[in-house]
Amino acid sequence: MKIIVFNGSPKGETSVTLQSVNYLIKKFPDCAFVTYPIAQQIRKIEQDAPFFDQIIASVAEADAVLWAFPLYFLTVHAHTKRFIELISERGAQPAFAGKYAASLSTSIHFFDHTAHNYLRAVCDDLEMRFVGSFSPDMDDLLTEEGRRQLVQFGGDFLTAIREQRPTQRLNAPLTRREFTYQPGPLPAARPTAGKKVVILHDGDRPGSNVLRMVARCRQNFGEAALFSIQEIDIKASCQGCLRCASRNECAFEGKDGLIDFYRAQVLNADVLIYAGTMVDRYLSARWKMFIERSFFNTHAPVMTGKQIAYVISGPFSQTPNLREMLEGFGEVQRANVVGFVTDEYGDSAQIDAGIDALMGDTLQAALEQRSRPRTFLGVGGEKLFRDEIWGRLRIVFAADHRTYRRLGLYKTFPQANWKQRLLNAVVGPLLTPRFTRKYFDREVKTQMIAPHQKAVEMN
Ligand SMILES: Cc1cc2nc3c(=O)[nH]c(=O)nc-3n(C[C@H](O)[C@H](O)[C@H](O)COP(=O)(O)O)c2cc1C
Repeated sequence: MKIIVFNGSPKGETSVTLQSVNYLIKKFPDCAFVTYPIAQQIRKIEQDAPFFDQIIASVAEADAVLWAFPLYFLTVHAHTKRFIELISERGAQPAFAGKYAASLSTSIHFFDHTAHNYLRAVCDDLEMRFVGSFSPDMDDLLTEEGRRQLVQFGGDFLTAIREQRPTQRLNAPLTRREFTYQPGPLPAARPTAGKKVVILHDGDRPGSNVLRMVARCRQNFGEAALFSIQEIDIKASCQGCLRCASRNECAFEGKDGLIDFYRAQVLNADVLIYAGTMVDRYLSARWKMFIERSFFNTHAPVMTGKQIAYVISGPFSQTPNLREMLEGFGEVQRANVVGFVTDEYGDSAQIDAGIDALMGDTLQAALEQRSRPRTFLGVGGEKLFRDEIWGRLRIVFAADHRTYRRLGLYKTFPQANWKQRLLNAVVGPLLTPRFTRKYFDREVKTQMIAPHQKAVEMN
């Protein structure tokens, strides 16, 4: 049996994820595994057509594909994303159709589910036979249980191929609308009252309306800076070198234009409008690269108080996974995600109205310094980062540790809440079954709302 492994780490051979693949290779010696470092070698794959063709020919004669990748900003690395784009751009989908597939990532479990959802949808779109996803923590290979689970996953994958087991598609094909957005009468430009509005887009793509949508966004503001991220000098995506971890300085600093741009425009903005065209089940690889390179801020919530709106050309409502990634990206950085507008319903007047309303809301939110409670995406994400930075990542991510201390993020540990700890220690032992039956069951509902009633009354 021949399995193609797509190594989606920019680190190539020194990938943590690849060590799990190496373990599978050791445990299943009867299988031929052929590995391609698609993320590390993306430039060669893009520029050297025979090399790309050789990879595709290997897929065509293989029994299955294993996508082995690290999590990078809630999904796969930008270079892996670009490889996926090349498959469609160069018409290589037939080599993948009908092949068995599985995905294996390593991560710290921050939005690992959205990464696997993405990859599964891509495999469904390629008409592959998807067997399963496997998402261990980056250190699980070091435990006996982790290795046992990995061998089970590998065994299951190989058995499914050997027995030609049936698989089922989880994602219906995307339906795209052929439609040209024709903006109507110009909106009234709103005074921005000193708020810095920055609109970022990734340029035009065949059949996309994004440039017209972006132009309308711009017309909504008296003053706004408009940039195409295609025009920023970006040498490559994040290499995972972790040079940023100790003092938030990127290895590319001074070597390309991204970091200066990010600091001057994104980190100084009050309102950020991100606009792009959907490419497969995400935005473009260029957008992914731009987002990824912001990792010089490591895990610091650098968007506090910023208002974000997303303007998307493409079948956005059919990809709730993309919405979750964009909301999660905003929430975990403590931005306020005001909303989304898309062109997918094919009605120009509706798009005009949607853009004008969203731009108005976003500016108003900045003027009023609006915020709102975050959902599980932001709350859960921040707690996960807090625990990791306080714990095993502290030595490497020293800059985050300093930031988290300065922002008081460690004060959110429940252990730091002495009042609650005292209450738990004193009242906890009193809650015997007899006491609970007699008083607690009767009182619990009214006692729970008593402080809320007081808050309503007093404020
Ligand atoms: C730029 C960057 C972004 C990352 N994003 C995520 C993420 O969104 N979620 C997560 O759980 N881990 C994230 N990680 C952690 C890596 O996924 C993890 O360390 C992985 O094991 C690295 O695998 P590799 O050595 O195969 O590249 C990120 C790491 C880097 C450097």
